[in-house]
Amino acid sequence: MISIRSARTGDAKTIAALSATLGYPTDISAMTNRLQKIVREPSQFAIVAEDSLQTPCGWLTAHAFDTLASGFRVQITGLVVADTHRRQGVGRRLVAAAEQWAQTIGAKIIVVFSNVERVESHAFYPALGYTNTKTEAVYRKSIA
Ligand SMILES: CC(C)(COP(=O)(O)OP(=O)(O)OC[C@H]1O[C@@H](n2cnc3c(N)ncnc32)[C@H](O)[C@@H]1OP(=O)(O)O)[C@@H](O)C(=O)NCCC(=O)NCCS
Repeated sequence: MISIRSARTGDAKTIAALSATLGYPTDISAMTNRLQKIVREPSQFAIVAEDSLQTPCGWLTAHAFDTLASGFRVQITGLVVADTHRRQGVGRRLVAAAEQWAQTIGAKIIVVFSNVERVESHAFYPALGYTNTKTEAVYRKSIA
């Protein structure tokens, strides 16, 4: 049985391991620092899915923010389900929890950007009622 709960800083190890499978290797102390910031920020939402052994098998983060062009909205900023737990409704449950949070805080729109290479996500989001509204280029600059 899968349960959904708020993320805790103690989840850093498993969240980092799941992130690595997506191509974002992160050491545990860096992940702990990120989680510490996210879990205490009311505009951020971070949850994990746990299996019956209470082992995290997926996580989702979302962020609420105002934009001048489109108003207040929530963006899913990260989502991954362990390979071993896919196609069992875990992603659906995580997104439903994010949508519920978004409604609670007054957002009328929830968006997510997903790399075109994440093939399964482009079947997943439409199955959950999300519409692909545009294709964008992502520009990046190091300012370190
Ligand atoms: C996308 C992802 C989160 C889906 O999680 P999941 O737990 O497997 O998804 P669910 O079991 O809740 O699937 C819900 C529905 O989405 C669709 N779906 C999900 N994965 C699919 C796939 N690989 N192929 C076709 N349809 C798929 C199906 O309609 C499914 O319902 P069904 O199983 O009853 O047919 C997961 O594949 C993943 O972590 N992928 C890598 C990371 C990623 O792409 N993250 C999203 C980027 S923002």
